[in-house]
Amino acid sequence: MKHSAPSAKALVPFVSVETMMKLVHHIGIEPMLRGLADYIEQDFRRWELFDKTPRVASHSAKGVIELMPTSDGEVYGFKYVNGHPGNTRQGLQTVTAFGLLADVGNGYPVLLSEMTILTALRTAATSAMVARHLAPKGADTMAMIGNGAQSEFQSLAMKAICGLRSVRLWDIDPAATRKAANNLRGLGLDVHVCNSAEAAIEGAQIITTCTADKQYATILTDNMVGAGVHINAIGGDCPGKTELAPAVLLRSDIFVEYPDQTRIEGEIQQLPSDHPVTQIWEVIAGRKPGRTSTGQITLFDSVGFAIEDFSALRYLRDAIKGTDLYMELDLLADPDDPRDLFGMLQRAAP
Ligand SMILES: NC(=O)c1ccc[n+]([C@@H]2O[C@H](COP(=O)([O-])OP(=O)(O)OC[C@H]3O[C@@H](n4cnc5c(N)ncnc54)[C@H](O)[C@@H]3O)[C@@H](O)[C@H]2O)c1
Repeated sequence: MKHSAPSAKALVPFVSVETMMKLVHHIGIEPMLRGLADYIEQDFRRWELFDKTPRVASHSAKGVIELMPTSDGEVYGFKYVNGHPGNTRQGLQTVTAFGLLADVGNGYPVLLSEMTILTALRTAATSAMVARHLAPKGADTMAMIGNGAQSEFQSLAMKAICGLRSVRLWDIDPAATRKAANNLRGLGLDVHVCNSAEAAIEGAQIITTCTADKQYATILTDNMVGAGVHINAIGGDCPGKTELAPAVLLRSDIFVEYPDQTRIEGEIQQLPSDHPVTQIWEVIAGRKPGRTSTGQITLFDSVGFAIEDFSALRYLRDAIKGTDLYMELDLLADPDDPRDLFGMLQRAAP
């Protein structure tokens, strides 16, 4: 007997880039960032439950391709992501991604999604959720250094989650700053275009570095960082790719996602492997202090960890329920007899 249509067992909900864009408008970007931050925070509170491993990275001269798996015992998730700082010169993005959730019980995928937009949203939501715990009280001004793909998401998440009012933009490429300033216009932030990193930092209680360069860069030197600020360091996320002078690290209390991964990829690759750091989940779970004094420099040495992507996919799975903002993808073979995979080929026989 010939069937042509796949059965329900074959179908996996799929969120394309187009439907992701529609979903952001359907929910609203700020509510979506807040929702993502809540899911990420919930999962950080149950951190110990998850399988954790540094991401599996394949490095080349041009960039890196990484797989980021984790599981909470019931659901398994992974993300494929790349980082190629030279890509924008060819009209390609630095970072692209897609990811999947699966049922641990039977191993069947339950969601496949684009994650290029979702990564920007989850990275921003994580930064802001962490800043809510570490930034000085009443922080309302952020220096945004690096005005590429992530920058507007970072700025809006800090507004939606931490009450940011003002963002001070700087990028070595004035076209990137113009783009970010245009995109942020009318979204409720005071946007200042600055002509140096030093100028961007003036009056900012939060400093976000979000540049892309495949080298040890020094976006922040020691003399640029005053007391009492929170540094949200996003762009140092690969071996040999950092943004902060070691002297800044030595003056900061450093908070990380998963130390085993961050010691390989983060700013702290520049420090001895036993330099003390605090896992941010312990602050969120109330086990360790976050900011303890007004003069303290807190540093979130962000590299991006698999649990954040898991949380983002979990959020997405709930958010698309009851909407038509996904399609059913014929991803899994569904033979009539599970052992007769070969016989199933006949469905497509000419
Ligand atoms: N921590 C995480 O979870 C996470 C997640 C996503 C991306 N990232 C990293 O964030 C960085 C930014 O990503 P993106 O997608 O926005 O990249 P992008 O290429 O779109 O933008 C990077 C910007 O940095 C600017 N830049 C480079 N050197 C600079 C310097 N010295 N001073 C000021 N600006 C400079 C570039 O001109 C560009 O506009 C990348 O390094 C990426 O790997 C981290």
